[in-house]
Amino acid sequence: MSTPTTAVIVVAAGSGTRLGRPEPKAFVQVAGSSILKHALDTIFSLRDAAQVIVVAPAAMLDAARTIAAQAAGSAGAYVTVVAGGDTRQSSVAAGMAVLDPGVATVLVHDAARAFTPVAQFESVIAAVAETGGGVIPGLAVADTIKQTDWTGRVESTLDRSVLVAVQTPQGFPRMLLEESYAASTQDQTDDAAVFTAAGHPVSVVDGDERAFKITTPWDLRKAEVLVGPLATPTGNTRVGTGIDVHAFDEARPLWLGGVYWPDEPGLAGHSDGDAVCHAICDALLSAAGLGDIGSRFGTADSRFIEAHGDIFIRETLELVHGAGFSVGNVAVQVVSNRPKVAPRRVELERVLTQLIGAPVSVSATTTDGLGFTGRGEGVTAIATALLSS
Ligand code: CTP
Ligand code: MG
Repeated sequence: MSTPTTAVIVVAAGSGTRLGRPEPKAFVQVAGSSILKHALDTIFSLRDAAQVIVVAPAAMLDAARTIAAQAAGSAGAYVTVVAGGDTRQSSVAAGMAVLDPGVATVLVHDAARAFTPVAQFESVIAAVAETGGGVIPGLAVADTIKQTDWTGRVESTLDRSVLVAVQTPQGFPRMLLEESYAASTQDQTDDAAVFTAAGHPVSVVDGDERAFKITTPWDLRKAEVLVGPLATPTGNTRVGTGIDVHAFDEARPLWLGGVYWPDEPGLAGHSDGDAVCHAICDALLSAAGLGDIGSRFGTADSRFIEAHGDIFIRETLELVHGAGFSVGNVAVQVVSNRPKVAPRRVELERVLTQLIGAPVSVSATTTDGLGFTGRGEGVTAIATALLSS
């Protein structure tokens, strides 16, 4: 076995007080698997081998070993399971105590962030190698944040443009993290706080909405809705395909993927020309065997003049649900020179996922200068939908 230079410590020793279940949080089931199993499955899809350290409640070590062995499969030799402590920080310390000698980079991850995409792990690993410091994934704060006094009275409004909501995995050079933990005198809620308290630098990489922490019963349900239909397809499973093309029209505003794009040329069409939403509708209708958008929502229908994509998607979902199907997931690809999708990809996925009530992934490509998309004449969108009944 090659000796890994990276370790992932998965802290799963909390009791999950706020979730309020009899079993510790990491052992609660979501769509047929425990939270811990979901978290570990992602880690075993990392590109390079890593030492995987699971920190579990002392009373649950056997159960944790069984779950870890299932997730590891043939990679069982990379796994160590240890008992955690009373605080998250002491649980991380217990994990650090069993690091292999060859490990140079340590990632610490909350098992409760069970649906963190593997890309988030890879970008943290890459950024630790690049910066030589600590790295944390973060999301811009969407809510307005107030500072209050101890009675709850509002004192001030904080500048949210400088605030970041922090997730895991958090990555660190091993030596500096060990030194920081050894020097720590205060209980902190994350590892970056221990690291910065010791005077070491930490930088932020892009987080992902899917890395939310399952904390409350609402979060648990949200996790089930997001992965449920995919993890447990019941009955019939059907796929469908949809393609839509619209030409650019400089005189119109651009709506694509259900969101507005300022300063971009719009798309021509009877509706708002949102090729992404229309391709998704066609994929959903095709999977359900319900025809296509042209035959369902004709241009003669005045309800659809200038209509935004979400209207078509809602109407389509009504038809699809009415025919007894639920949506497993949708994948859509934008083929175009502009707009640049990457900076808003996460936002698009969030908006469309909320609209459809199932995971939607968005990707984009250009055509190397070839064809009408290469000449910048318009946008193509290609979608695939999975339904189950
Ligand atoms: N954790 C841990 N050891 C502890 C406390 C927390 O390993 N003594 C882990 C949890 O298992 C979780 C992560 O740290 O994966 C983040 O903690 P949190 O979401 O607060 O989980 P719990 O402490 O279990 O939940 P609660 O605070 O609601 O009791
Ligand atoms: Mg806690």
